[in-house]
Order: sequence, then structure tokens, then C-alpha cells
Amino acid sequence: MASFSIYAEELPAPHTTGGQPLMKVIGDRKSSRDYKAGATVSKQDLSNMLWAAWGVTHDGKHTVATAMNRQELVIYVITPTEASLYNPEDNTLTVVNTGDFRKLATMQDFAAIAPINIVLAVDTSKQDKPEFQGYTAGAASQNIYLYCAQAGLKTVVRAGYDREKLPQALKLPASQRIMLVQTVGK
Ligand SMILES: Cc1cc2nc3c(=O)[nH]c(=O)nc-3n(C[C@H](O)[C@H](O)[C@H](O)COP(=O)(O)O)c2cc1C
Repeated sequence: MASFSIYAEELPAPHTTGGQPLMKVIGDRKSSRDYKAGATVSKQDLSNMLWAAWGVTHDGKHTVATAMNRQELVIYVITPTEASLYNPEDNTLTVVNTGDFRKLATMQDFAAIAPINIVLAVDTSKQDKPEFQGYTAGAASQNIYLYCAQAGLKTVVRAGYDREKLPQALKLPASQRIMLVQTVGK
């Protein structure tokens, strides 16, 4: 399988069937902090995990419930070479900035060498209640955990990141707020 590259904005179609049994995967879910430098995550895995986090499923809705169907989640993907916005409707990544922003996405060294850091943000103009924003980001995080557990990938969700510089690197609109960052790798 091809690895993620700066030129690839269209993701392969997510694999939405199969995988290991759900109850086993739930039991296998865990946080990992020992990442191998230089490891890659395939575009197929990236597509699958983004679909798990926030893919479109039924009637224009998503894999994650949102209060009053506000659909406030916004996902960015940080790779060693760029930061991109995930567009679940057409399964594409739009590059918002080029460069290695992994150090800004963490206060912990291990995340700066991992191939993928997923930023879970919310559009506060769609949902302004912090408890509902937190629910939405948390549910998406759990889906990423479960995908990684069944795919043999390591992951950990994190609250620590550069509060000033990461929003700048992502060119985050004023209405958007970062909730969590989730590291994925091998
Ligand atoms: C909201 C939230 C924030 C977290 N922030 C961090 C973090 O900044 N750094 C980190 O290494 N782990 C972080 N974690 C992971 C927890 O430490 C981890 O889930 C906990 O130790 C339980 O381990 P487990 O996930 O393997 O069950 C966070 C978890 C949650 C739910």
C-alpha cells in the first residue's frame, strides 16, 4: 500500500466492512507512547481511521452522534510534511499548510516522531456548549482508538499541544477550537 504523500489529496475509498470482532477490539483499545521514528501509516489506514472518526454514514450524518445534529467536528491531519483538512463528504484532504508541525501538536517528544497526529477541533459557531463539543471530540477519538486497535496501529489521545502556534499552523478560523490531538503510528 502507498504511504501518504504531499501530492495525494484524494484518499482511497475507506474499507467499511470487515475487521476484527467488535468486542475483541474494545478490549484491545489502549494508549501507546512508544513510537518508531520514520514509520509510515498507509493512505488506506488513514482513510479508514478518518472514516471511523467522522465519515458520512446515513442521511448525510456521521459515524459520531452530535447534539441536535450540529455536526460541529472538524478534523485536521498533521503529517511530517503538511497539515490538511479532512473533508468527509468527498473523502479528500485539503492541504492548509506545508511543513513539519508535529512539534507544535505536542508537549511530549514521542508525538513529534510519529507519522500522524490528528487534530480534533470543533466549529463553535455550530455548537457553543462545551459539554457537547467535548462529547463529540471524545466519541471521534474513541473511534480512532478502536480502528487502531483492530488495525494493529498505536495511538494515544492528548490534551497537550502548543496553544498559540498550532492554531496558527493550521490557519484555524476564529470560530474553530482545538479539543484534542491524537497521535497514530507504529
Ligand atoms: C481527555 C484526555 C486527555 C489526555 N491527554 C493525554 C496527554 O496529554 N498525554 C498522554 O500521554 N496521554 C493523554 N491521555 C491518555 C490517558 O493518559 C490514557 O487514556 C490513560 O492513561 C488510560 O490509559 P489507556 O488509554 O491505555 O486505557 C489523555 C486521555 C484523555 C481521555
